[in-house]
Amino acid sequence: MARILCIANQKGGVGKTTTAINLAVTLARSGLRTLLVDLDPQCNATTGLGHQPAERHQLLRGDEGEELLEPVEGEPLFLMPGTRSLADVEMLVRLSREDMERVCRQWRGQFADFQMVVLDCPPSLGALTRSALAVATEVIMPVQCEYFAMEGLTQMIVAVRQVQSWNWTSLSLGGILLTMHDHRLELAQEVEQEVRSYFGQATFQTVIPRDVAAAEAPSHGLAVVDYAPRSRAARAYLELCMEVLESEQGQTLG
Ligand SMILES: Nc1ncnc2c1ncn2[C@@H]1O[C@H](COP(=O)(O)OP(=O)(O)O)[C@@H](O)[C@H]1O
Ligand SMILES: [Mg+2]
Repeated sequence: MARILCIANQKGGVGKTTTAINLAVTLARSGLRTLLVDLDPQCNATTGLGHQPAERHQLLRGDEGEELLEPVEGEPLFLMPGTRSLADVEMLVRLSREDMERVCRQWRGQFADFQMVVLDCPPSLGALTRSALAVATEVIMPVQCEYFAMEGLTQMIVAVRQVQSWNWTSLSLGGILLTMHDHRLELAQEVEQEVRSYFGQATFQTVIPRDVAAAEAPSHGLAVVDYAPRSRAARAYLELCMEVLESEQGQTLG
């Protein structure tokens, strides 16, 4: 079965999309057949790789549909573009628990051809994020090294525990990822310490530094690992990819 990594945090601007794009690109480059699924109606993962949002979401439409986009020639990386259509989200909101189980099984079927699936979630704990958690095998939570970093994480953990309590899910904690770390700021060190002392081993060793290259890359339709391969952010994302590959499966929440 594919490892399905859900990149989630209900806060916006914490580095979810940047992490989803760069993890997908580096995992594919390591030879794994990888699918990046853009679940955010803002479609940043789609445009950030130089593609256009779809009319309807292939996952939510539920049929085989057109071919997946292949953003990088010659690499086993596939993109399922996001959609700005709200009808698709509303369909999910109306789902009962049983229907959700059916939808998630269907999604797993659509993922069956892949070794790695990366889900980029919207900045909310709404139906899309919950469905993504329900279908995923691991959740990775990016946390920005700034004030209120921990804010919202408690609610995320509650949502994760709830999904874990359903007997048809197989979600584990992939890890907490510290992002936009500015080593010159005392605050960033404090946030790092706070997160590590609270989450311990569940925190990735890799810390993503604040790096202008990461902010510039999407406007070129590229992952930072391609836009500026020698940048600090690019090296950090390569390191993260190795850490993800080394971890067999996520951790359990203590
Ligand atoms: N490591 C980084 N250093 C500097 N800017 C970053 C970094 N990671 C992301 N950004 C920028 O910060 C903004 C928010 O990141 P994004 O990945 O879109 O977060 P989210 O998906 O959680 O909303 C974007 O403009 C992005 O380009
Ligand atoms: Mg995003």
